[in-house]
Amino acid sequence: MAHFEELIKRDRNERKKDNFKGTFLDYLEIVKKNPAIPMLAHERMYKTIIDRGVEVINASEHPRLRRIYGNEMIKRYNFFKKDFFGIDNVLMRIVQYFHAAAMKGEESRQVLYFVGPVGAGKSSIMEALKKGLEASNPIYALKGCPMREEPLHLVPNHLREEFEGLLGVKIEGDLCPVCRYRLKNEYNGEFERFPVETVDFSIRSRKGVGVVPPVDPNNQDTSVLVGSVDISKLDLFSEDDPRVLSLNGAFNVGNRGMVEFIEVFKNEVEYLHTMITATQEKSIPSPGKSSMIYFDGIILAHSNEAEWNKFKADHTNEAILDRIVKIEVPYCLELDSEIKIYKKILSRSNFKAHIAPHTIKVASMFAILSRLAPSNKVGPLTKLKIYNGEEIVEQGATKKIDILELREEAQREGMTGISPRFIMKVLDQAIAESEYDCINPISVLEILIKAVKELSISDDEKKRYLNFLQNIIKKEYNKILEKEVTKAFIHGYKEQTKDLFNNYLDHAEAYVNKTKIKDSSTGEELEPDEEFLRSIEEQINISSTAAKGFRQDVTSYMFYIMRNGGQIDYTCYQPLKEAIEKKLTASVKELSRVITQAKVRDKEQGEKYNTMVEEMKKNGYCEHCCNVILKYSANNLWKD
Ligand SMILES: Nc1ncnc2c1ncn2[C@@H]1O[C@H](COP(=O)(O)OP(=O)(O)OP(=O)(O)O)[C@@H](O)[C@H]1O
Ligand SMILES: [Mg+2]
Repeated sequence: MAHFEELIKRDRNERKKDNFKGTFLDYLEIVKKNPAIPMLAHERMYKTIIDRGVEVINASEHPRLRRIYGNEMIKRYNFFKKDFFGIDNVLMRIVQYFHAAAMKGEESRQVLYFVGPVGAGKSSIMEALKKGLEASNPIYALKGCPMREEPLHLVPNHLREEFEGLLGVKIEGDLCPVCRYRLKNEYNGEFERFPVETVDFSIRSRKGVGVVPPVDPNNQDTSVLVGSVDISKLDLFSEDDPRVLSLNGAFNVGNRGMVEFIEVFKNEVEYLHTMITATQEKSIPSPGKSSMIYFDGIILAHSNEAEWNKFKADHTNEAILDRIVKIEVPYCLELDSEIKIYKKILSRSNFKAHIAPHTIKVASMFAILSRLAPSNKVGPLTKLKIYNGEEIVEQGATKKIDILELREEAQREGMTGISPRFIMKVLDQAIAESEYDCINPISVLEILIKAVKELSISDDEKKRYLNFLQNIIKKEYNKILEKEVTKAFIHGYKEQTKDLFNNYLDHAEAYVNKTKIKDSSTGEELEPDEEFLRSIEEQINISSTAAKGFRQDVTSYMFYIMRNGGQIDYTCYQPLKEAIEKKLTASVKELSRVITQAKVRDKEQGEKYNTMVEEMKKNGYCEHCCNVILKYSANNLWKD
């Protein structure tokens, strides 16, 4: 109890300390000390982003990044880092816009517009920017001003040059009609007495953040944008008295912060003209009879591509088009980043189910494959891997495929395909349908197939998607699984691995030194068993002519380790390790028998099975999915 009270009080005190209340005269002193205070909206946004830190990465210094970005410099902003993945280029362009606008370039008079397919993250980026404002420092504003305007607007024109010189600040903008009226009538024109206070940003209470949803075309009432005349006050005041104004439109509340236009082009063009004046002239119409009102804010808009194309096609929209900085927000095309998107969304939901290994990867692979344009140079899966920055050694390929060539082939990539929302819905459905509160790649693939069949897309597209799911991804998943289960299985075969290794070493040593081997039980002296040695070497394609050299290498290497006080085991020498594992996998036929014949497992097989299950669990499987996956493996893998 006391703890909470203390916490609340401390917070209140701290906030009070930050809050400023004073006169314009006090404010002038503050600005004189810190001329950065009256900065305009774009600059504030830019600072908010930059102040959290930027990591500048020289892609050429990181193998994976180099494969994706070549020798580019990538900037990663802490501001976006936790929430956005695989769209570094988009984020860099957005920050570039704010940078240019902060320096009062043409961008400060342009609408920032995002276009991209559904679910590509447009709204989320917008949301992040708005939250950034909320978290930024409070701003100084004229007390009681409906537009929370910059106090420096009080400085009359004839004094501005002098004030600017004294403060080291450029003064931009004029008083809103409400404050102008109050200055005259309440403060008798003595602007130094006008009260100033600090205010903060709040999305919920519409402070510094105005949102314009698409408006019903039959009711394009501009009061949503610029406020209205309060009719009830017309009895008290004359029509041109600013006291009748309700300056509560999106541009009024978004002054000094931002105004967001959702699905911007769903609005009638007339409705968008306010957007033009607000950007170009930095002023908005006033309701009633007052003159234009100065506006300083970021104008953000977004829509999907179809709407953009429709809008663009109409040449009467040129005036607006000319005032837009368009940034394309495509889907993520990097597998690893796509996986991070779902992990983020899941971690923020109430989703508590168990997720078997590779489940999200498999779903993400589908999302990415659906977005990649077909290439003449590589197959879809290879392309996915190249875009993911993986080192690709194409079988039989003589020259390495360059990611830039692939990008050139497909310039509009990322603007179509499956959206993260579609994938999330499938994951949600998989969990709803799961019996044990656990989802796995097999159930997710099944539901993806069902969901794709229900999509209203062309037959060709559907075929392409189904081929990804039923063929390409399935095969790839089987490969991954085969490796994984085999590894777990070999783990259960530790003893056998050890035996193979020791035997190989003994025989190879005897062979190299031209000695005999003593059988440990009978004491018999035996020739080294060449057939046995070959059976292991063949696993890694060592020819009979090369065998002698290999045996020499192995033995001298092992002696070298032992001489230096090292321990030797089958993993010491990579080629030998591989050969032994392969040799064991050759007995995976037994593995599937171990898995399938649950009822007739003998004691030894039962033990092997259990060790394997334990190993699988260490890799992230639960009781249930382990069972499902092993059954699936027995039925689908190791088929020659
Ligand atoms: N590259 C990405 N990084 C992180 N999260 C992403 C990314 N792309 C999409 N998302 C996530 O996908 C979900 C859908 O994104 P959002 O709603 O922002 O899309 P949108 O572009 O506004 O879509 P719409 O056009 O349908 O409004 C969100 O949870 C978002 O966080
Ligand atoms: Mg959206």
